[in-house]
Amino acid sequence: MNKIIVRGGNPLVGEVKISGAKNSALKIMAASILTSEPVVIGNVPYIRDVSVMSEVLGELGLSVERTNGSVTLQAKGPIGMEAPYQLVSQMRASIIVLGPLLARLGRARVAMPGGCNIGLRKIDLHIRGLEMLGAKIDVGQASIEARADVLVGANIPLDFPSVGATENIMMAACLARGTTVLDNAAREPEIVDLADCLNQMGACISGAGTSTMIIEGVDRLHGVSFNIIPDRIEAGTFLVAGAITGGDLTVTSVKPEQMGMVLKKLEQIGYKVDVGDSTVNIKGAGGPCGINISTLPHPGFPTDMQASFMSLLSLAEGTSIITENIFENRFSFVQELNHLGGRVNIERHHAVVIGKRTFGAGTVKAPDLRAGAALVVAGLAAGGLVEISDIHHIERGYENFTGRLQVLGADIELAPDERPLELAVKEEEGYDIPDISAGL
Ligand code: UD1
Repeated sequence: MNKIIVRGGNPLVGEVKISGAKNSALKIMAASILTSEPVVIGNVPYIRDVSVMSEVLGELGLSVERTNGSVTLQAKGPIGMEAPYQLVSQMRASIIVLGPLLARLGRARVAMPGGCNIGLRKIDLHIRGLEMLGAKIDVGQASIEARADVLVGANIPLDFPSVGATENIMMAACLARGTTVLDNAAREPEIVDLADCLNQMGACISGAGTSTMIIEGVDRLHGVSFNIIPDRIEAGTFLVAGAITGGDLTVTSVKPEQMGMVLKKLEQIGYKVDVGDSTVNIKGAGGPCGINISTLPHPGFPTDMQASFMSLLSLAEGTSIITENIFENRFSFVQELNHLGGRVNIERHHAVVIGKRTFGAGTVKAPDLRAGAALVVAGLAAGGLVEISDIHHIERGYENFTGRLQVLGADIELAPDERPLELAVKEEEGYDIPDISAGL
């Protein structure tokens, strides 16, 4: 098991190619359950969550083959109906197999993912939506069991535009009888990507990317070869890393139109942001100043960028207020940031970020994926040596993060974590420890 060691102060300069979107890859991998033909997915990132999803699908009986950035999946033979706790607890997004299994087999059992360290992560909207399609669902202490002799299209209004619920219901509705109208659907670019892929598999989905999606059920789906979109959160994280170091950094292979609010906020802080067709460049332009941010469903400011912006705003002139509206417990890393020299006070779901701070040396722990990346970002601007442990969280969603930062000029390295062996092994194996099982 490794930790990250950063010596801050080097401006990040150069270009970095952005990987495929984690949150698209995981869902499109799950969509392969819906057909017995091969599904070939290109631009899949080499990250731990993709490995876990491969294991989940392998456990269900799909063949999974990984070559040169693409993954080929095929649900040809008999398919299992059960996603076990040992895997679901490693990655909460495994709940996404529920809808496809129900549509393909008429039954599914998925271990209860439970809460996690960024909030309760409820699944009531997934369940209610699938029930409205005709499924009978038993929610037990340990698992969710779903059955449906037939799924029938329905009008489903979501109380909240949940990303996961929209995706689960959309996938189940593809093979339902008749028409499903999903209101207050999530509008994230990854939803559009999943819908595009499903449509290329023979589904009939319209309205993806808007609040009302219409899904006409079809009898069967077929195989596909599909390239997923770039990861807008990874791109945003690199841009913030470039900004905080006063660098001149370009992210390439991105879709800037999917990053509107993040780019706007970087400009408001005072950075010069130049947008090309598939590139974004950032550089300093005078002293950065504090701003207010509220996380919201897309196209609002993404909750997944909140932590990195908190690191950035800690160094800006003036006070900033960050309001977290999506997850209850997403300020868990504030203590760690303050340990490095930040001054952030939490008032319920508002974080008051006092600016003009300097980060110094310190040893911190990554509490979850995005907060872990934000601590690395803070370390890149620190005046002393920063050590970040528990980096398995970061590895869940960022491909070769330290290597790519090194190429941009960062003084950063992986080093063995010399914590007592017992603890390190427990954590390395230990996605069965409930409070580190976040799946973002
Ligand atoms: C997905 C993303 C995650 C991102 C989040 C919001 C993946 C793998 N993860 O997570 O990176 O931060 O979208 O953009 O794609 N909720 C309920 N009941 C439900 C479902 C959700 O109350 O049935 C609540 C959640 O507790 C949370 C909020 O709705 O407070 C948003 O959750 P959701 O949009 O479902 O996020 P995820 O799909 O889990």
